[in-house]
Amino acid sequence: VNATGTGQADILIDGETIAAVLAPGSTLLGHDLASSVDTVVDAAGKYVIPGGIDAHTHMQMPFGGTEASDTFETGTRAAAIGGTTSIVDFIVQYPDQNVLDQYHAWHEKAAGNCAIDYGFHQILSDVQDSSLTAMDELVAEGVTSFKLFMAYKGVFLSDDGQILRAFQRGAENGAVMMMHAENGAMIDVLVKQALDAGHTSPYWHGMTRPWQAEEEATHRAIMIADLTGAPLYVVHVSAKQAVDQIAAARDRGMNVFGETCPQYLYLSLEEQLGASSDEWGDFEGAKWVCSTPLRSRAEGHQHHMWQSLRTNDIQMVSTDHCPFCMKGQKDLGLGDFSKIPNGIGSVEHRVDLMYQGVVTGKISLPRWVELISTTPARMFGLYGRKGVIQPGADGDVVVYDPNGHTSIGVNKTHHMNMDYSAWEGFEIDGHVDTVISRGRVIVDDGGYRGRAGDGQFLKRGLSQYLI
Ligand code: URP
Ligand code: ZN
Ligand code: ZN
Repeated sequence: VNATGTGQADILIDGETIAAVLAPGSTLLGHDLASSVDTVVDAAGKYVIPGGIDAHTHMQMPFGGTEASDTFETGTRAAAIGGTTSIVDFIVQYPDQNVLDQYHAWHEKAAGNCAIDYGFHQILSDVQDSSLTAMDELVAEGVTSFKLFMAYKGVFLSDDGQILRAFQRGAENGAVMMMHAENGAMIDVLVKQALDAGHTSPYWHGMTRPWQAEEEATHRAIMIADLTGAPLYVVHVSAKQAVDQIAAARDRGMNVFGETCPQYLYLSLEEQLGASSDEWGDFEGAKWVCSTPLRSRAEGHQHHMWQSLRTNDIQMVSTDHCPFCMKGQKDLGLGDFSKIPNGIGSVEHRVDLMYQGVVTGKISLPRWVELISTTPARMFGLYGRKGVIQPGADGDVVVYDPNGHTSIGVNKTHHMNMDYSAWEGFEIDGHVDTVISRGRVIVDDGGYRGRAGDGQFLKRGLSQYLI
């Protein structure tokens, strides 16, 4: 299965690279294929897809007074088991930090530890002159996308003038400008008012980050992109009103793109409100505290999001994998929801969760592959090498069994370094059988067979969506 369609074929991988995609029954120099090769993976009756690319992860990210609980090692291993063979992770720059120092620090964290290939985006906060020159240097290093924030004052927030300058630079050097689109000033007031009124439970995280704050910020980011000519990629879109802003900009011919995440397709504010357990009481809802927040199902955001994936108003599905344990991390926010570290862990489950869209008739099989692999590759300058099964591409291939089954839960399928699963109880029609990364089988019937350090740094090109 490629994004362009489906067919029956034998795939020959030589070393790290796909050498040929052959009609079934083809021979090699007169010999049948199976007797001419070292290893045969029988995929009869199953789907063979290009390896998943998760373009939004935060491995061991220092954030919210703690650090995301998956290391590059544990997080990429879980990703591999779930059928993802590349990630693009975010280098963090906090206001007092030097961008290029951070770039080198992230290389040190990741090098030798990853199970699968990895690239980087760069987060810019508090944009200074030096940040702009660093942008050019990073593009030359293969870090061709930059994330800015309209929320998190004192942590990540850039003001609109700083965002404008960074976008101007992106328009010049060809980088994709990524935006965390929430109006932080509005949110900060609503959070203070809620806490002053004694509302401390996790549910109030969502109540104080309303869709208006997302729609407004999305619109503002689009205007800055329009003014500067920079391509805009809006990350973790959850509000249907923000989707409509993106769709309208695209209708005007702009290079504006939207990313959503499985949590905004499946989970809701109502379910977060209803969540309660003996152990945590109503603090149970902390498991799903992330930003942008889960939205109301009654308002129809989830339905609208699935629809936008079908119509291509939204083009990307990444996880925004930013895991924290309940014990010792999420519980920093007991008695004050604003201190709950923001993030959900899903890197292991994205391929399976999105396949359920095929099972339920919401998206087609090629669209599934486009969403989980091909578009991320094009968007972030990896296409040709990644995101497609064709001669010359990396041998990143997943055998997916549509008749298999996957039960998600901390004591079931769960390899992420978290003490809970945001997806507990999800039953998946389908199963990742075999994962091949640059020609090596790293996951099969026996489980994970790879090694930390198998994964290499991906020096990315410019986005191929814009050419
Ligand atoms: O809650 C989230 N999304 N945490 C990760 C940081 C970000 O804004 O992507
Ligand atoms: Zn964000
Ligand atoms: Zn994120």
